[in-house]
Amino acid sequence: MSISVLVGAQWGDEGKGKMVDYLAGKSDLIVRFQGGDNAGHTVINDFGVFKLHLIPCGIFEKNCISLIGTGVVVNPDVLMEEMAQIEAANVSLEGLKISGKAHVLMPYHQKLDELMEKAGGIGTTKRGIGQAYAYKAMRKSLRFEDLLDLDRTKSKLTEIVPVVNDQMSSYGIEPYTVEALFEKCKLWKEKFAASIIEPMSFLHQMIDSGKSILFEGQLGAMKDIDHGIFPYVTSSNPIASYAAVSGGFPAKKIDKVIGVAKAFSSAVGAGPFPTEEIGGAIDLLRGTGENPDDEFGARTGRSRRLGWLDIPVLKYTHAINGYDELALCKIDKLDNLPEIKICVDYKLDGRIVTHFPDTEDLEKVEPVYITLPGWMCDTTKIKNIADLPENAKNYIRKIEELVGTTIAYVGVGPNREDLAIR
Ligand code: GDP
Ligand code: IMO
Ligand code: MG
Repeated sequence: MSISVLVGAQWGDEGKGKMVDYLAGKSDLIVRFQGGDNAGHTVINDFGVFKLHLIPCGIFEKNCISLIGTGVVVNPDVLMEEMAQIEAANVSLEGLKISGKAHVLMPYHQKLDELMEKAGGIGTTKRGIGQAYAYKAMRKSLRFEDLLDLDRTKSKLTEIVPVVNDQMSSYGIEPYTVEALFEKCKLWKEKFAASIIEPMSFLHQMIDSGKSILFEGQLGAMKDIDHGIFPYVTSSNPIASYAAVSGGFPAKKIDKVIGVAKAFSSAVGAGPFPTEEIGGAIDLLRGTGENPDDEFGARTGRSRRLGWLDIPVLKYTHAINGYDELALCKIDKLDNLPEIKICVDYKLDGRIVTHFPDTEDLEKVEPVYITLPGWMCDTTKIKNIADLPENAKNYIRKIEELVGTTIAYVGVGPNREDLAIR
């Protein structure tokens, strides 16, 4: 039995989808534990190419259950669309379950996110995530278990809708009606009733019967609402300990934390990004968007900001998450670079910074780089870390030494099987 948690070690889009799809083969249950359909988790396997937003990336393994957990905010319309795509690829949805305590992301959440972004935001995905969590915190929110009792749903909507309309009026938006929203809820009940579960007994039974459980994080720790680059962050905690909060079990039961890192850095949205290079060697790795692994957002299609690997970021997120091991994805993208830079420190006002800077200082830091020789050969067919070219192994060893953890998986291509392991 084991409980593992897989999280993004940088700014999101590190390759979590690919890793969960791979690890699902060794798991009984995958739980998405926070965020919502702001996620874009790319999976490329025998069933096709998928960019999953809400459905856990273990869905392709027929012996693995997929749970959308309590800490997630779920847009039911997006979930229905995604279910249809998965079914169209002949993948069974039999193992898909939704926690009754997951909150329903409503149309007005998304509308408010759009309006706030238009008025000058931080570059959110405009999926309504921040608003869904805000309404959850205000305790003006529906949970999936509410949908099972339509009287309860109606009475909650009657209480919530005036609050929503108050807010909408300041933007000059037509009021929402309880009746129209209630019609949607009736449809959602019909669609999801069979999949909604009471999460505590389900999860604890899985834990007690010794199943292998993997918690799938969304985004990365640099965008954590408490520990990330506030205010340019998401509205949840994409960090390992939140898996225990969302799952409702003691944090000390987590056996393993797997951090997923990209071999360089990428970020979407506004905010500091110390190693960003515009027009340099790394920036040229973006591609055109034609290939599924080109550097364009899997959720919004936005061009990703790119930069060199940032060790202070990895050390900081290691301090938060405690990686037992790292998966280093996309090393193959560096195959043709004669030299590779690694940021090992930051300087602020000419001095090496000894703590992780706050957001304002992070805008001002100057990265201190070391340069390693590249390997200038194709790594895409390699299955074992020991068989990687010597300079690629040096790059990996250097990262292990600087961060203080082990790299157990190295991504050498976008497909499920494109992994070198130890
Ligand atoms: P996630 O949000 O962490 O699941 O990551 P995304 O799916 O948003 O972005 C990661 C991108 O890198 C996707 O296009 C993946 O197909 C791709 N990818 C993942 N691992 C590798 C790898 O090892 N090599 C290459 N070339 N692409 C990878
Ligand atoms: P995955 O799970 C990269 C970013 C947005 C914005 C900030 C807040 O695929 O790694 P939000 O819509 O959450 O309120 O936006 O977070 N962001 C992501 N960046 N990958 C993601 O997900 C992201 N989800 C949100 O760009 O900066
Ligand atoms: Mg992504």
